[in-house]
Parts: sequence; structure tokens; C-alpha cells
Amino acid sequence: MVNIGLIGCGYWGPNLLRNFMDCQDATVSMVAELDPERIEYIQQKYPGIKTTRDYHDLFGDAVDAVVIATQPATHFAFAKEALEHDKHVLVEKPLAKSILEAEELVRIARQRDLKLMVGHTFEYNEAVRELKRQIQQGTVGKPYYLYSQRLNFGIVRKDVNALWNLAPHDVSILIHLLETMPEAVSCRGYDFIQPGIDDVIFMVLHFPNNIIAHVQVSWLDPSKVRKMTVVGSDKMIIYNDMDDHKIQIYDKGIKVQNMDESLGPYDDFGKYQLIKQAGDVSFPKIDFKEPLKAECDDFVNSIVNDTQPLANGENGLRVVRVLQTAQASMNLNGVTLDVRKGSPEPKRPTMATQF
Ligand SMILES: NC(=O)c1ccc[n+]([C@@H]2O[C@H](COP(=O)([O-])OP(=O)(O)OC[C@H]3O[C@@H](n4cnc5c(N)ncnc54)[C@H](O)[C@@H]3O)[C@@H](O)[C@H]2O)c1
Repeated sequence: MVNIGLIGCGYWGPNLLRNFMDCQDATVSMVAELDPERIEYIQQKYPGIKTTRDYHDLFGDAVDAVVIATQPATHFAFAKEALEHDKHVLVEKPLAKSILEAEELVRIARQRDLKLMVGHTFEYNEAVRELKRQIQQGTVGKPYYLYSQRLNFGIVRKDVNALWNLAPHDVSILIHLLETMPEAVSCRGYDFIQPGIDDVIFMVLHFPNNIIAHVQVSWLDPSKVRKMTVVGSDKMIIYNDMDDHKIQIYDKGIKVQNMDESLGPYDDFGKYQLIKQAGDVSFPKIDFKEPLKAECDDFVNSIVNDTQPLANGENGLRVVRVLQTAQASMNLNGVTLDVRKGSPEPKRPTMATQF
């Protein structure tokens, strides 16, 4: 039985708490929370769980693994301390607020042979898994471009911008789907509500093989949208997390056809034609399970059976690498930057403006 200590039980923490309490091989033995109202909530709902205001109480022998669901500014410090007390760690996204910090967490976990995992929940989403299966088995043909929209009306954060709050999911899904890092990123952000905290982000990612991805995230939008569209040479797929048919495969594509093979290359528009193909829409069946349950199970399983969790520390580091480069691009009004070279460390001093 893995004994889990949870730090932070605000909006997201209770979901982690519920799922870990449902795990066969784990239990939550202690929760650290600063807000008295949240402590009361835990005590009423789970009278058997010890509560504390001081997260250091989780670093004793009674706890094997620490789950961190506090504001992103605290992730690095809490995760580092927990690892240094020989606790396995699941930290909410983003893993940390800079590449240097994320690298340090990965290094400490490796040195101490501990599991480090990040809350990239959508990688555990059955619809995302189906989308990946479809891309891998060649349904779309050659992927041309993808675009992702994660929009909502609120929750407006005061501590991080929409890039660091919402886009970790889209970036992690894209890297997961394409199984490669983007080479370059260009990003623009706009603050309308709080100066220095961007509410709306438009980001273009350049992946190898000329695959382009666009990510739009916002907490200032009239409707809730969680959608990704993949356009390829043969077919197009929409993953709509808000729809009953989460994966929709459109038999649509445009082919270039040579009018006459003997005419040689397509150097004249008279020598080729564009063939539009538009067939049926199909909806693969998806056995939907709560993604967070699969994520929690993966964390517990990695500890019990000494496996690598899917959303491991390196995975979290990859996403932070993209986010930091995107932030640097935003600071330069959208200049395209090379993700592989690593971007400069963020220059701005406080979390609120840095993000
Ligand atoms: N994976 C997902 O889909 C998903 C969804 C929502 C939020 N999140 C992540 O979860 C994390 C928390 O987000 P949230 O919306 O729940 O924030 P929140 O502000 O609602 O909750 C954070 C809680 O942490 C507590 N806290 C802060 N410092 C503490 C300390 N030193 N000791 C103990 N408790 C402390 C606060 O009192 C608060 O209750 C963020 O990193 C966010 O990115 C992930």
C-alpha cells in the first residue's frame, strides 16, 4: 500500500484525493492545506485523513509519495524538498517554471531512484489515445497541420498567465501524438484584464517533417472549447473533448493529380489538377474512463512495480522547454525561436509578470 500525502486541496486537489482514495494499492494518509475552509471540507468528507497546515509534516515515515496540487510558483520548491526527503512525487502541471528547475527535479529523482511524474492528464485521455492510434496507423496520411483550442470563460488566474496555466496540456498532447519535440516556436500573448498576465495566447509550433501546430488558449472566451483538429493528406480528424463523439474522422482530402505522366513535373498549372475527395464521417468507439484515474493508477503502479510512468519527469521537462521558449518568444513580440537551442531564462523577476 502506497501512503500518499497531498499538498494543496483547492480546486484540483479534491479530484486527485478522490482518485487516489479509489486506488487499490494506495491511500491518502495526510493532506497539507493552508485554507481553513478547505481543511474543514477534507475533515468532513474524509474523517480518516490527517490534515496539517505545515506540508513538512508529510515528509515523515508515514508517507511514501507526495502529490503537489498547489499554485505553479510553488511546484519546484515543494517537489525538490519532497524528493530530498526520499518521497516519490507527482506534481501538477507545469512541472516547474523554468527549464533549469525542471532539469534539477529530473536529476534529483534520477540520483535518488525516485518516481517523478507530472499531471499531464490529457495523455491519459482515451480520446487522445485513439487520436494517436489513428495518426500512427496512417489514417490521416501525412499530417499537414494540427490546431488546438482550449478556451473557457474563467477561471482567471492571478499567479500565472494562460500559457503556463492552460497550454501545458496542448503542448503535452502534441508531443505525445507526434512523438517528437517541436523545433521552433513563435508565440503572442495579450493581457486584457490584469496587466502583465496574458489572458489569450496564440502559439505556432514547427515540428519536424514540416508539420505545423497552432495552439490557442484563453480564459476570456464566451464558450468552453476543448478541441484539436488534425489535417492530413488523406483524412482529417477532429478530437472534441466536449462532444459525445469525441473522435470524428472526416474522409476529406485534396490530392494533386498529374494530367499526363509524360508531361513531367508540376511546373505548369495546366499539367495537374486538384482532386477534392469528400466521403463519410466516422466515429470510432471509445471506452471512456476518467483520465485522472488512469493517471493516478500509473503513478501508483510505477511505485509498486518500479515502472516509468507515461508522464514522467523528462516528459514534464520537455513541456517546460517548449513553454519557456514560447514565453521568450512572447517577450520578443512573437519572434520565432529554436526550441532545441534552449531559450534564455525568463528575465522578469516575479511570478505574476514572469508568467
Ligand atoms: N491536470 C489538470 O487538468 C489540472 C486542472 C486544474 C488545475 N491543475 C493544476 O493544479 C494546481 C492547483 O490548481 P488549483 O486550480 O487547484 O489551485 P487553487 O488555488 O484552487 O488550489 C491550490 C491550493 O493549494 C493550497 N496551498 C497553497 N500553498 C500551500 C502550502 N504551502 N501548504 C498547503 N497548501 C497550500 C491553497 O490554499 C489552495 O487551496 C495548479 O498547478 C494547476 O495548474 C491541473
